[in-house]
Amino acid sequence: MRLGVVVSGKGSNLRNLVERDFDVVAVATNRPSCGGAAYARERGIPLGELSLKRFSSEEERDEAMREFFKAHGVELVVDAGYDRIHTRPFLEAFRGRIINVHPSLLPQFGGGMDAVEQALVAGVDVTGATVHLVTEDLDGGPILTQERVPVLKGDTVETLRGRIHEAEHRILPAAIRLLEAKLAQSPAVGQ
Ligand code: GRF
Repeated sequence: MRLGVVVSGKGSNLRNLVERDFDVVAVATNRPSCGGAAYARERGIPLGELSLKRFSSEEERDEAMREFFKAHGVELVVDAGYDRIHTRPFLEAFRGRIINVHPSLLPQFGGGMDAVEQALVAGVDVTGATVHLVTEDLDGGPILTQERVPVLKGDTVETLRGRIHEAEHRILPAAIRLLEAKLAQSPAVGQ
């Protein structure tokens, strides 16, 4: 399946997908200076540089992202560290075909960008990573896969985040394969 990946950060999930030979046909970013964008350039993957300042609204930016992905024949959108919320024009165009990776066991610690910090502050023994379908309900779409990650004594945000990333690098590929299989059975989903 032709993947469009959306990044705002380091891009380790993007790199992992490319290294595992997933068909990443396009990368979009709202932060052209981020590590994920640099990796896309380095690999020669078509990159949509969609800073908000180029547009008059989030909707307009999302229309540009939609057109960019459509032009590259994207069939499944992977939010891999995207730090914005998709608006309606984008959600409607790819309904049932957008997934997100989140660094907690949703619904725990959903809705923000500091789930790893929240887990440490809450003092939980176990946190983890989740891949879910993206809907209007922020971090609340149907869950595809999760992996538990124990919180160890002496963990810092960095050490815990590192182990959560390792889990993400396992479950994101697994979730893509799962969704590919589901969509192959019922291709009408999301169209
Ligand atoms: C991941 O922890 C993901 O769960 C969150 O953003 C982070 C992205 O990491 N949404 P990377 O840019 O793929 O390294």
